[in-house]
Amino acid sequence: MIRELSLEVRSKIAAGEVIERPVSVVKELVENALDAGATDIKVSVINGGLDEIMVSDNGCGMPFEELPLAVKRFTTSKIASVEDLDSIATLGFRGEALASIADVADLTIFSCDGETSGQLRIRGGEVLLCKPVASPKGTRVIVRDLFFNLPARKKFLRSASTEFSHIQKFLQSMVLIYPNIQWTFTSEKGVIWHVPPQLPSEERFYSLFGQKAQFHAFTASQAELDIYLNPNIVGELILSVNGRLIKGSAYFQVLRILKDMWGGANLPVMVLRLNVEPDQVDVNVHPQKLDIRFKSQGWLRQALQELITQVRSEGGSLGSDSKTSGEMPHYQSEAWTTTPNDASTVVNETIRENYMLFQKEALQNQKDVGAAVSKGLEIKDYLYDAYILIKRDGVYELWDQHAVNEKINYWRLSSLYGVQFLLEPLFCGVDEETAQALTEMGFELQQVRGGYLIKAVPSLLLLSRSLDVIIDDLESIKGNIEKTRADLACKSAVKAGQKLSPMEIEALVVEGLKVLDVSYDPHGRPAVVKLDQALIERLFNR
Ligand SMILES: Nc1ncnc2c1ncn2[C@@H]1O[C@H](COP(=O)(O)OP(=O)(O)OP(=O)(O)O)[C@@H](O)[C@H]1O
Ligand SMILES: [Mg+2]
Repeated sequence: MIRELSLEVRSKIAAGEVIERPVSVVKELVENALDAGATDIKVSVINGGLDEIMVSDNGCGMPFEELPLAVKRFTTSKIASVEDLDSIATLGFRGEALASIADVADLTIFSCDGETSGQLRIRGGEVLLCKPVASPKGTRVIVRDLFFNLPARKKFLRSASTEFSHIQKFLQSMVLIYPNIQWTFTSEKGVIWHVPPQLPSEERFYSLFGQKAQFHAFTASQAELDIYLNPNIVGELILSVNGRLIKGSAYFQVLRILKDMWGGANLPVMVLRLNVEPDQVDVNVHPQKLDIRFKSQGWLRQALQELITQVRSEGGSLGSDSKTSGEMPHYQSEAWTTTPNDASTVVNETIRENYMLFQKEALQNQKDVGAAVSKGLEIKDYLYDAYILIKRDGVYELWDQHAVNEKINYWRLSSLYGVQFLLEPLFCGVDEETAQALTEMGFELQQVRGGYLIKAVPSLLLLSRSLDVIIDDLESIKGNIEKTRADLACKSAVKAGQKLSPMEIEALVVEGLKVLDVSYDPHGRPAVVKLDQALIERLFNR
């Protein structure tokens, strides 16, 4: 039964901006369908959801007389008291999602609880229609004209293709988190995917991404981990806690631990479903309900440790694509002791990943080092954790580790150094000029009607930003390629004062030698100073 929440409960709810863009609507409607116990959920969008979003389910439905309550703010069937906030077992609990959508769009609901059924239409908060009509058991919600009454917000939205890819990404995650549900996703172009329930995981992955992956599943008492291995696709963690997709600080905390467990530079697609007693987590912490707080850190540690032990003991059977040996990498306990993460940890993650790439190269470059040395190059010293002193063809040179690394990164970006293939090519409606510019930067594009499919993204770009940000930013990247390249090269370079191991120094020098002109960094600052006779004489005012 839908009830209005008391003022006391309302004041405790971490409410906020619920509807930011089309995917927020899809998220709220899909969560309502899941809360209603649906086993068959259909999502369809027109023009990236900007024109229309429809979500229908075969869940419990609502009786006709409750329809007006459903779209009222702070009315919900999911909690009733302040105490209920302490153990929430449903995805929704604030009773504000439908009201928030109805405030900024044109919303129509058809619902039937098996006894009564009806239709309600509300636009910009004004109820236009509410009448009994026949409808199959379950609920169908149609949202049109999002932000029709908020032109400023509408302007902030990205292109339909970008909004579409956000929705697609969200639904991919939900399909992997909820394998027992039948999911159908359609757009004006037709069926994007149809995933029947209980489909073998390999098939499920194939229907989502059009590529097969090797699949491994691990189950512990409170955690289930699915690992999909496909070297061609960008790995990531999809995390749910009690069925809720998590994106906030809890996500980074878990990601860090799993990355340490995995050890390799390339993460596979990992789907981790954590199941915890509802009273052990606080879900009332994030305006879009995308984060949770574990009441006890010990719980998380224990749940993951059990899982990791299992993964490590069965690790030999995992594919070797993402690791150098068949064994599971050594698990570092340091990850437990660090505090939950925030934005700065994301940056650190990026640097760390880049560093790992660097170390891998160092190994690969061992042979090249020998060749370089035999060509009359010697590494003589390493000064102040910042400068490498080398002797080349009888002349001493000082290499600035940051500037040289920056130049190498810059060169990598412009010479298509390493691309990452995307799980699913992403459509972007850019013009030919932008496409040309993106290709120069290392994007792999395929022309299709009305735009291009992005098939691969330069690795370095992916290391520095999330794919969402890159896609959102295509236009500005195009207008500013040189600066973007230089910025990215700089951000992902080792810093002055960051102590390098001898192997890393060698790798840097060998890589530097591959860059045609290492003398200046991308900003025109010297990267290498030749201590030749002329300079030495100038220093002594000769
Ligand atoms: N698909 C659905 N099937 C059955 N009932 C639904 C459905 N969608 C909404 N309802 C009913 O309408 C109520 C209001 O939905 P709404 O999404 O606004 O709030 P909520 O889910 O309770 O909380 P939240 O704001 O956190 O999502 C729900 O509590 C539920 O009773
Ligand atoms: Mg809801």
